[in-house]
Amino acid sequence: APRAEVPTPDAASLDGVDLEYLASRLPTPFHAYSANAIRQRIAMLQAALQGLDAQICFAVKANSNLAILQLMNEAGVGADIVSGGELWRSLRAGIPADRIVFSGVGKSGDEIAEALAAGVSRFNVESHHELLMLDRIASSQRTLAHAAVRINPDVEAGAHEKISTGKAENKFGVSIAEARSWFSSAAGLSHVRLDGLHVHIGSQILELEPFRLALARVAEFWRELVRDGHTINSIDVGGGLGVCYRRGHDRPIEAGAYVAVIREALAGFEGRIVLEPGRYLVAEAGVLMTRVIRVKQGEQRRFLVVDAAMNDLLRPSLYDAWHDIVPVSGPPRAAVTYDIVGPVCETGDTFAVARELPACKAGDLLLVAATGAYGASMGSNYNSRPLLAEVLLDDGRYAVIRRRQSFEEMIAGEQPAGNWQTA
Ligand code: LLP
Repeated sequence: APRAEVPTPDAASLDGVDLEYLASRLPTPFHAYSANAIRQRIAMLQAALQGLDAQICFAVKANSNLAILQLMNEAGVGADIVSGGELWRSLRAGIPADRIVFSGVGKSGDEIAEALAAGVSRFNVESHHELLMLDRIASSQRTLAHAAVRINPDVEAGAHEKISTGKAENKFGVSIAEARSWFSSAAGLSHVRLDGLHVHIGSQILELEPFRLALARVAEFWRELVRDGHTINSIDVGGGLGVCYRRGHDRPIEAGAYVAVIREALAGFEGRIVLEPGRYLVAEAGVLMTRVIRVKQGEQRRFLVVDAAMNDLLRPSLYDAWHDIVPVSGPPRAAVTYDIVGPVCETGDTFAVARELPACKAGDLLLVAATGAYGASMGSNYNSRPLLAEVLLDDGRYAVIRRRQSFEEMIAGEQPAGNWQTA
């Protein structure tokens, strides 16, 4: 059985690797992921799906490292992509095109053409303009595209308004009324087979109710379509399963309970069910390792200045997201209240405000928990800070799966103006 060592706030090791040792081999900051924690999440979801014709397509945006995608592929997990870059990565990692679904409101003509040529299994289409574009491009490639309509079920979900996607006011999907009209005029599409439904309502969802509501609406629509003589071969239920960012506070949904809602809503559906989890599979498997640069006593607040920053982990700055942060080792000591901040020149470069931590000093190693999703993948070079190294841990061994970017790599492609073109 896969062993998962999800870090607890006093954890000194992850997936059999001593983190203090690891940080003595690799300069901080870096991201580390437990392969077994990821395998365990996949296995839990697959076990819950037993008996269903279901395909898990990992939302690549959550963690797009090639080695992570390879790990997904080894477990039979496909990919949910939103760009040409994610298509390219997924294929590079060996994920078969027939396990790739293409989502997103802004697929460009070039991206659609590349994905069609690669043979991706399904396009989750989000507007009528895109549907016609897909038909035109498929026709020019003399191929048949399989499409699903992304339904906007007008359901409230998600931990933060910036990651809630299923409300009528959001840019995502189309109303059931509009989807209905697509199906009734689908005969006019010569190179698209419109035979799927798709829904994704948001992210970091910790309650079953929004899933139940959204799936009930989708299921009702599916039954109506079938009554009207349409064939629905796939229903994609999206992603959104939340994880624990704050121990003793967040209570994530169990895979079994989530899949039970899918089973109930889609009872009698004989086509393929697609799932697009991102965060659920990787978030809690990852940690950001960082060291204290110095403790700074301000006029009013005490700051722990660490060597990771908002460009390495944007979630706290962008969403006010909570991540547990703990010293990796050291003797028991009294708690002190700190603001934990990075070196970037912005007040928003703050990982935690007024957080109680055992007293720290310069050089101490800290672990920022649950950073395996939307951590490295949202990293940037802001303040000319090179992208971080990423390390995969597997049962007492570690492998660098992305080396720290060098300064040269950071400026690759930049050049002094000299190649002027008259315009
Ligand atoms: N499918 C679609 C169409 C999506 O838009 C997303 C995420 C997923 C699946 C995967 O959702 P998940 O299972 O990971 O919740 N950067 C934000 C999260 C943005 C999610 C965007 N869409 C964060 O760090 O919280």
